[in-house]
Amino acid sequence: MKNYAKLNEYLSNLAVLNANLHNLHWNVVGKQFVEIHEYTEKLYDDFFEKYDAVAELLKMKGEKPLTKLSDYLQNATIKELDGDKFTCEETVKILEGYLNEMKKLATDIRNEADEDDDFEVVMEFEEHVAGYSKELWFIRSMLA
Ligand SMILES: [Fe+2]
Repeated sequence: MKNYAKLNEYLSNLAVLNANLHNLHWNVVGKQFVEIHEYTEKLYDDFFEKYDAVAELLKMKGEKPLTKLSDYLQNATIKELDGDKFTCEETVKILEGYLNEMKKLATDIRNEADEDDDFEVVMEFEEHVAGYSKELWFIRSMLA
């Protein structure tokens, strides 16, 4: 793969999402509090695993994963989440936006890597895309 900057953009998004997801985890309110509190925990655990996996993939390729919070904020396309109180519906909609954005970026990375026969990146990101698709199904079911 030639465009490793995109992997760092993705890594930066995962770092920002770790903070944003904790905000939602702590500050969601409403009837489905427990359900969404637990669901956001499952998501940030998953994002945190992806964060480490993507950084190690960059290292494996001889590239430098970004490590500084200031770099993450500069390179992420997902912005920091303002607010300290979120309804359940607001939270699920915010999550849907994040998952769609990450799925799109993961798909772009997968396809670019495929053009360059970068099998390790293809393999890793196919799993990410499939994971986001599954979460988006959960989200659609929650919003239905
Ligand atoms: Fe917690």
